[in-house]
Amino acid sequence: MKVLILYSTIYGHNLEMGCFIRHHFFQKADWSSIAQFDSAMLADYDLLVICPSTYGEGYLQPQDENFAGFLKGHHFPHLNFLVIGAGDRNFGHASFANAANIFFYLLKHSGAHPLHAVIKYDFANLLTAEDGLEQLLTRNQLLGSINNEKSAAH
Ligand SMILES: Cc1cc2nc3c(=O)[nH]c(=O)nc-3n(C[C@H](O)[C@H](O)[C@H](O)COP(=O)(O)O)c2cc1C
Repeated sequence: MKVLILYSTIYGHNLEMGCFIRHHFFQKADWSSIAQFDSAMLADYDLLVICPSTYGEGYLQPQDENFAGFLKGHHFPHLNFLVIGAGDRNFGHASFANAANIFFYLLKHSGAHPLHAVIKYDFANLLTAEDGLEQLLTRNQLLGSINNEKSAAH
C-alpha cells in the first residue's frame, strides 16, 4: 500500500500529528507539506492522510489553496483517505478546524473513499487526539480493511 501524508502548519500541531501517524502506522510513507506536494503525483497513492491547518476564521492557509483547487478538477476513485485537523474551539463551531471539513468534502467529491468521518481536535488536546487516533485505527482495523481490499484485487 502506497501511503502519502500531507500536512500544513504554522505552530506545529498538524506537523506533529503527521509525524505521529507516520511513526506509528506508516514508517515508509511519503510525506510533504501540502504546499510543496506535486499534485500530479497523487494518483500514485492508495491512501492519503491529510492534516490541514485552519486560519482566518475557518479558511485554509493560502498556500494550501492550489492543492484544494487541484482536487476540485480531478477524480480519484482508487484513493482512500483520512482527514485529521487541529483547530481552536474558541473560533466557534462553524470555523472549528474547518480546513479539515473542506478537504474532506473535496476528497469525497473527487470520488475518493473516506476511511472514517472527518476527525477534528482542539490543538490543546493534541496528545489525547493522538491516543484516540491510535485506538481508532487499531481497534477498528481500518487499515487492515484497505490491505485486504488491495490483496483481494491483485
Ligand atoms: C490568525 C489565526 C486564525 C485562526 N483561525 C482559526 C479558525 O478559524 N478556526 C480554528 O479552528 N482555529 C483557528 N486558529 C487556530 C489554529 O487552527 C490552531 O492554532 C492550530 O493548532 C493551527 O495548526 P498548526 O499548529 O499546525 O499551525 C487560528 C489561529 C490563528 C493564529
